[in-house]
Amino acid sequence: MAVLVTGGAGYIGSHTCVELLNAGVDVVIVDNFYNCKKSSIERIKALVTKDFKWYECDIRDREGMDAIFKKENIDSVIHFAGLKAVGESVEKPLEYFDNNVNGTLVLLDVMRNNGCKKIVFSSSATVYGMDNVSPLTEDMKVGGVTNPYGRTKFMIEEIMRDLYVSDNEWSICLLRYFNPIGAHKSGTMGEDPNGIPNNLMPYITQVAIGKREFLNVWGDDYDTHDGSGVRDYIHVVDLALGHVKAVEKVSGTTGLYIYNLGTGKGYSVLDVVKAFEKASGAKVPYKIGPRRAGDIATCYSDPSKALNELGWKAERDIEEMCEDSWRWQSQNPNGYPD
Ligand code: NAD
Ligand code: WQD
Repeated sequence: MAVLVTGGAGYIGSHTCVELLNAGVDVVIVDNFYNCKKSSIERIKALVTKDFKWYECDIRDREGMDAIFKKENIDSVIHFAGLKAVGESVEKPLEYFDNNVNGTLVLLDVMRNNGCKKIVFSSSATVYGMDNVSPLTEDMKVGGVTNPYGRTKFMIEEIMRDLYVSDNEWSICLLRYFNPIGAHKSGTMGEDPNGIPNNLMPYITQVAIGKREFLNVWGDDYDTHDGSGVRDYIHVVDLALGHVKAVEKVSGTTGLYIYNLGTGKGYSVLDVVKAFEKASGAKVPYKIGPRRAGDIATCYSDPSKALNELGWKAERDIEEMCEDSWRWQSQNPNGYPD
């Protein structure tokens, strides 16, 4: 029995596949390679001893997905596939709703038609919106999201809730990620954004390697210890290990479960710059800029539910996150090869 991993060649998916395979789980990857390179499949292969299947397919391709379910012995799904750039989603809302929401509807329907009712979904801390006060707990009200990307995550959570109500043979796990950074220890896998990075860590590593002149720190007048925004950064390998636990959970039960995957610690932008400079020995010049639209001052998790119910806890600290991000960037200045 295998786990089908949609978006398994992307940043979080590839790290998760390595941990699943090294835990002895059979894996089938589906990716349309819209936001990753095929060489990431080779990089996964080099880090694991177990073989795996992969398919180039769009999750919206109903016939293609159905054929994969008919061919492979799929027991459960980890669903990473989606578009994720907040700014781009404001420019292209229809593309985001089609890819993320419609893609998920097709996937769920194909799963149901093939008798597979176990799914782990990549949700996001963004569903907590602007008004909840950190530390964020899973029982807080969700919604009030400020951009189309975040709304796709909120809508998919609601769809999955309704699906479970309609048929409680489903086993659904919504994982709300905080801010994934870091890379595999080998330095061979990491985050490889197209164009100008939106997220903090890839921007920092590109400044450190000399691709960009300086970091813009978006605001230094928040109500935080140094005025810059505070987030809960989590090592991508810890996040990957959370998926191994979540897939075990959905395999052994039915129900709808929600877990935060974060460390429970908040670091400011300037804390991350300092930690990165210490871990890498590289300089990260920065300039203070205006606040970025839609940002909040502080966002971090209460991760205790995942510890109590999944037995999962993030183990890697901010220093290790910075070291590993830097190893990936410095060994692969241009990301994955074509
Ligand atoms: P990523 O872009 O690296 O990975 C997503 C993968 O899905 C890519 O390989 C892409 O080619 C593939 N994909 C996209 N649309 C597809 C489609 N229609 N059919 C098949 N494949 C498709 O992103 P990531 O950072 O690894 O994120 C994985 C998931 O986690 C996404 O759903 C994202 O929204 C969610 N998430 C990410 C973060 C983050 O900060 N990275 C935070 C919270 C949630
Ligand atoms: C972190 C901090 C910025 C870039 C986003 C999505 C969220 C989730 C994770 C997918 C903030 C500051 C950033 C820069 C900066 N993704 N910053 N200069 O905004 O917490 O979350 O990614 O689900 O949905 O919204 O992450 O990395 O963009 O920003 O000062 O060049 O770094 O203002 O305080 P964010 P981020």
